[in-house]
Amino acid sequence: MEFEQAWLDYTKKASCKGSEDIKYICVKTRGEEQDELIKNGILELQRAFAGILGIELTVCQNLGEGHGICLTLTEGIQTEAYHVYENKGEITIEASDSKGILYGAFELIRQVRIGNPLGGLDLFKAPKMPMRMLNHWDNMDGSIERGYSGESFFFKQDRILVDERTVTYARLTASVGINAVVINNVNVKDAATWLITERYLDKVKELSDIFAGYGIKLYMSLNYAAPIELGELDSADPLSEDVRGWWKRQMELVFNRVPNLGGFLIKADSEGRPGPFTYGRTHADGANMLAEAAAPYGGKIIWRCFVYNCQQDWRDYKTDRARSGYDNFKGLDGEFLDNVILQIKNGPMDFQVREPVHPLFGGMTQTNQMLEVQIAQEYTGQQRHLCYLIPMFKEVLKFRTYVQEQDDTVEDIVSGRTFGQHNCGMAAVANTGDDANWTGHDMAAANWYGFGRLAFEPELSAEEIAKEWIRLTFGIDKQVEETLLFMLMTSWKAYEEYTSPLGIGWMVNPNYHYGPSVDGYEYSRWGTYHRADHMGIGVDRSREGTGYALLYNEPNASVYDDKEKCPDELLLFFHHIPYTWKLKSGKTVIQHIYDTHFDGVDMVDEMVERFMKLEGILPQKPYLRMVERFTHQKEHAREWRDQINAYFYRKSGISDEKGREIY
Ligand code: GCU
Repeated sequence: MEFEQAWLDYTKKASCKGSEDIKYICVKTRGEEQDELIKNGILELQRAFAGILGIELTVCQNLGEGHGICLTLTEGIQTEAYHVYENKGEITIEASDSKGILYGAFELIRQVRIGNPLGGLDLFKAPKMPMRMLNHWDNMDGSIERGYSGESFFFKQDRILVDERTVTYARLTASVGINAVVINNVNVKDAATWLITERYLDKVKELSDIFAGYGIKLYMSLNYAAPIELGELDSADPLSEDVRGWWKRQMELVFNRVPNLGGFLIKADSEGRPGPFTYGRTHADGANMLAEAAAPYGGKIIWRCFVYNCQQDWRDYKTDRARSGYDNFKGLDGEFLDNVILQIKNGPMDFQVREPVHPLFGGMTQTNQMLEVQIAQEYTGQQRHLCYLIPMFKEVLKFRTYVQEQDDTVEDIVSGRTFGQHNCGMAAVANTGDDANWTGHDMAAANWYGFGRLAFEPELSAEEIAKEWIRLTFGIDKQVEETLLFMLMTSWKAYEEYTSPLGIGWMVNPNYHYGPSVDGYEYSRWGTYHRADHMGIGVDRSREGTGYALLYNEPNASVYDDKEKCPDELLLFFHHIPYTWKLKSGKTVIQHIYDTHFDGVDMVDEMVERFMKLEGILPQKPYLRMVERFTHQKEHAREWRDQINAYFYRKSGISDEKGREIY
């Protein structure tokens, strides 16, 4: 399959003030050999300077008189950090480790390409989050769970693929500072269970070596019941000596064969996957057994908190899926070994367009924690609708948990500032596939790019990240930049407006989760209800209801518990509300539903109208691909608007104040 270079396309020419005299590149180490990371950094700079500026960088021992770039390994800089600066026309990239040098090289290339002059350049950057990870949900048959951009480029027909595309993937991923990648789906079945055996380890090693050259640790998802499913034991009880011994031997094998392996990601006792519950054991028992086995090799165990009862009865108003992550894990706080990290979705349900922040953030104080977001747009338009998610992730990161008086935001927690942790960070469910443009929708690449940049530098604004991505992808052009920036920054709000209202979520077609179906999940077993009747809508999660609101620290608990104080955008998540209830905006709930659905469609229309003016300005291929997506989005947004409005008009019997057409 052919593939493009996304934001690393160096064929577009640019000029860069201060680059005119640059001819050479040299490396100063502290006597050690140049490793793959440094070699790849040099290669990347050579490729970029040649492509963009027409400058052939010659490697030399010392810069001497000639102007050039010097990669310098020094002491005293935080790992992975870099200092890029100009002095008398010479550019220095300084770091304590070769990963920092590689990141510095990508930074310099970014500066050149976004049009910043090199004179006076002085950037010191250190990543805020220790782990910056992608989770691919790729299956070994080549399909991708919740994949919207083609097939897997890691697997095909139960084989592991290692080719040119793998290298480009690693370059793209490293260029935004991502340092860990899980290659296979969290739902580990069939062939994927065998990834930790002789059958695949040679290929896993090959892949991990390419990753290592770009500072990326390879991780694999693990089948908790592997000892049974591989036919070796009849139990996976974490307290059984046989089982513990089996895992120790297996980890020894895997880490010896794949020394750059970072560790494992585990989905246990969740949506039918096996786990320690079968043996009456806790998640801590399960995670610690694996952690103990992986510890001698520096391996990490990332254990997911997405655990809930997926066999609920809709008539049961007490069981609350939103509570389940908290209820399952809060009591285990402090019981996990230091190389275990709990991976927690941003919200308590499942990557909806709007959810409150997961109450485990700020609920646990003695456990390593990692934030999981989803850039695969499962519930946010499946990469057919434009939905730039960085503004949402920023809101999550800025959320104050009040777990202590200061340094208490989600960002503080997952950066390790709150509890002094080093095993923490942020993971995103990836949105890539083997489509030529990697992400199906060309503009969905902004989420991949943006996720990495955000995890490295969370202080960047969503606009700054978007602007970088636009310039790197489409070059510097005022109209392109203004248009695409407007579209990106409007897209999440627009999507929220024309889909499910006020934080209630879902209302999608079951299974594939695309398109409106208000009652699609209303009477099923998944615990995802909106509880609409002819009087009102919403789930009572206050103290009179499921009590979920009280899981937060004060003052959040009191705010969410009280319908008068609860923010509008989350009102229906926390309360069952009459259609005639006045929101803080002054509108009734029902009028809000009508207005936002009409407004959301108008927003899409405006986005698309502005986009169409880029014909002849954007390169034709991506332009046409996007026209196709935006034409669909326009139509599909109308379907959402009309289905939602019609449903609530018929339920409530209340007309739209503005007399617009509702079916
Ligand atoms: C969602 C998604 C599943 C996925 C699950 C998970 O429910 O629809 O496909 O397996 O999340 O995060 O494990």
